[in-house]
Amino acid sequence: MPIKKVVILGSTGSIGINTLKVVDQYPDKFKVVGLSAYNNIDLLEQQIRKYSPRYVGVNGEKVVALRKKLGSLKIRVLNAQTDLGYMVSLKAVDVVVIGMSGSRALAPFMAAIKEGKTIAPANKEALVIAGDLLMRQAKRHKAQIIPVDSEQSAIFQCLQGQPRKFLKKIYLTASGGVLKDIPQSKFKTLSREDILLHPRWKMGMKITVDSATLMNKGFEVIEALRLFELKTNEIEVVVHPEAIIHSMVGFKDGSIIAQLGITDMRLPIQYAMTYPERWPTHLPDVDFFKLKKLNFEKPNLKKFPSLSLAFHVAKEGGTLPSVLNAADEVAVAAFLDGDIAFTKIYSIIEKIVRSHKIVRQPDLKEILEADRWAREEVGALALKAC
Ligand SMILES: NC(=O)c1ccc[n+]([C@@H]2O[C@H](COP(=O)([O-])OP(=O)(O)OC[C@H]3O[C@@H](n4cnc5c(N)ncnc54)[C@H](OP(=O)(O)O)[C@@H]3O)[C@@H](O)[C@H]2O)c1
Repeated sequence: MPIKKVVILGSTGSIGINTLKVVDQYPDKFKVVGLSAYNNIDLLEQQIRKYSPRYVGVNGEKVVALRKKLGSLKIRVLNAQTDLGYMVSLKAVDVVVIGMSGSRALAPFMAAIKEGKTIAPANKEALVIAGDLLMRQAKRHKAQIIPVDSEQSAIFQCLQGQPRKFLKKIYLTASGGVLKDIPQSKFKTLSREDILLHPRWKMGMKITVDSATLMNKGFEVIEALRLFELKTNEIEVVVHPEAIIHSMVGFKDGSIIAQLGITDMRLPIQYAMTYPERWPTHLPDVDFFKLKKLNFEKPNLKKFPSLSLAFHVAKEGGTLPSVLNAADEVAVAAFLDGDIAFTKIYSIIEKIVRSHKIVRQPDLKEILEADRWAREEVGALALKAC
């Protein structure tokens, strides 16, 4: 395989750092041509010095400070708010790993699609809010999307070589989150520290909170529906606390194919970056004899209503996923800032989702307008909740 030239959006985050670890394993096979971060310019500087990319993106307010740190180093420093689309579109780019958080990934995601790049999205927000549009454009521009989110990667892997017409059902697995065994009566008093102790995966703060509420699983349901063009009755969430099975695909003949592996994001990241090849890793294999058994449970929808809400949103479609995503982003940020209690996250999101006037088959402008509307509404509600 010729050297792959890679751009990593969100290189200072959990996904970005893991992507660079994959690059470290194969320095002769990957060349980092672009990196982007937001505020963490100290770590970005270290990455720049180690990987020598030609382009980097940061929060516009940090461009001057980063430039100063880099001295005479020959590199173009771009504004991450406006220029990531330009960076991913460069001729020199083969693979774009989208590890940045939030719906702002939508613009560079779309730009990479329009240039027919191979895209490895870990970011789920863009697919949640505009999955239909992105997939339509990907087909049109022959861009390859190889998901990194571990559940979507598992489904993608299980579907290899399987004609779509034989698919019966996707079993999307969920570890159950940090609150699985905590009684609902204790939710009111949960602090940010209680929530950030995720049992299986080490991730950024926002996705860890979403995992606790199961909203993350709800987003993954919407993401899977869009990526694999499914109907809501073709997907079921299965709580699997060991998180060894990353998801399964059931076929019409009754066979079910599962993808298993240790809980380490380097596995799906590397798979997406080397697809269709499978290169060796130094990571341990699953030890079945240590593990002994795998458990499965139905999700408790009464305790975690976010999941049912996400199914409702998925079914309705239109601009509603954009509203769900934006409302969640603002409500979770308010919780992390200590402005609202944990239980308020859901009640605020539900209120906004139920009061939205859905636009069916929206274009990008309408999706972004719904996002703006929801953020404004949640901001006002969160203020009232303090
Ligand atoms: N972590 C996981 O295991 C995992 C698994 C599956 C899916 N995902 C998805 O992957 C995405 C990233 O998750 P994460 O856990 O890696 O998050 P994270 O650790 O919080 O990292 C987020 C990254 O995005 C950058 N960023 C933040 N705001 C930005 C903005 N406005 N413009 C451009 N870049 C911005 C951050 O830069 P600074 O740090 O420099 O500010 C950082 O590099 C999310 O969509 C998440 O749902 C993550």
